[in-house]
Amino acid sequence: MPSTSALELADALVTGGAVRSTWLRRAFEEIPRHVFVPRFFRSEAGCEVLIDGDSAEQHDEWLRGVYTDEALTVQLTSTHDETIAVGRPTSSSSAPTVMAGMLEALDLEPGHRVLEIGTGTGYNAALLSHRVGAANVVTIELDRGLAGAASRALAEIGLHPSVQVGDGNVGVPESAPFDRIIATASVDHVPPAWITQLAPGGAIVADLRGSLSGSLVWLIAAAADVAEGRFLDLPGAFMPMRTRLDSPLRDGETWHQVLDQRNPQRATTPVNAAPAADCPSLRFLLQLHLAGRRVRGFLRSPGNTELSGHATDASWFTVGLRADDDGLFPVAQGGLGRLWDTVEACWALWHRLGQPGIERFGVTAPDVADLQYVWLDHPDSGYRWPLPL
Ligand SMILES: C[S@@+](CC[C@H](N)C(=O)[O-])C[C@H]1O[C@@H](n2cnc3c(N)ncnc32)[C@H](O)[C@@H]1O
Repeated sequence: MPSTSALELADALVTGGAVRSTWLRRAFEEIPRHVFVPRFFRSEAGCEVLIDGDSAEQHDEWLRGVYTDEALTVQLTSTHDETIAVGRPTSSSSAPTVMAGMLEALDLEPGHRVLEIGTGTGYNAALLSHRVGAANVVTIELDRGLAGAASRALAEIGLHPSVQVGDGNVGVPESAPFDRIIATASVDHVPPAWITQLAPGGAIVADLRGSLSGSLVWLIAAAADVAEGRFLDLPGAFMPMRTRLDSPLRDGETWHQVLDQRNPQRATTPVNAAPAADCPSLRFLLQLHLAGRRVRGFLRSPGNTELSGHATDASWFTVGLRADDDGLFPVAQGGLGRLWDTVEACWALWHRLGQPGIERFGVTAPDVADLQYVWLDHPDSGYRWPLPL
């Protein structure tokens, strides 16, 4: 039976292991998600159909959706008409399991001062307020309309945290310092303002992510101007922090460039790309090696005969999925950056390092973005990769 109430959702989260703390169970039981998600979009046959709680026909479907452990899109880049939309999501209410994982990792205590980046619907701000008191919660959202709707929903259940409109990259200096900072939009490095605004002993939980891979990270204030910590092997892939209201993409990110297909380099490779594509820890290592390059990788061709990838610098590769008699797969690549060569180098390193899982990696983040880096096992292990991802 699908859940249709906050109590049932909380039960499911406890049973599934996402909620472990008593306070968080009570918060999920007592904060009504339906107040924050009066309508959402559901993908159907390539379109996004609006499911509206105010519609008598859709009411039951809406309620089931709201109390199911699913991310719910609440805003898209473009809308056809009032009920059907196309485009890319620009705001959503995150999946409750993911929210629970982050809130558990945040290790909140009553009275902690908390900054949330990416208010969205306000549901997470309500859960935070339940634990630390609304007067201790500051949440910032780029989109004024979303921030207004979130404020109203919060007020409807008697909560009045500070809802700010602005770019979360700069934090909220006038309300700092914060004991905890939680970001519900992903970043490719740790914005220096968050580190500056972190109280001594404070912690940050955020999704550190490039175009191909990333993961939640837990950082503590290691010194006055440095945050340090580890990646968490928890589910959760957030939409990137954006700078424009009409696009979910980061600045300069476009996937419609003309690829440099002159004089492709053809070769063979011993690497079977299909299992490589499906391996999260290998994708993660590959992300580290891309050194800030934006890549769409491991896209399958119709018929599943090839995998391909391309980067915003017009580089590309295509690799076959059927080996020849010698066990080798055909590769073609072009453009300035040799993308497939990077995949092969990563594959070899990943094996040499013992196929490290994401939880073996960590981050040292001084408040100067150019000095931030990811490490393996230990900050001084000798294996380090620069941020941004
Ligand atoms: C996954 S949603 C957040 C979900 C939200 N915490 C909730 O409980 O509904 C991500 C949000 O981050 C916002 N966002 C994106 N870029 C931002 C930025 N630069 N500054 C502040 N908010 C941003 C988006 O508009 C979107 O509402």
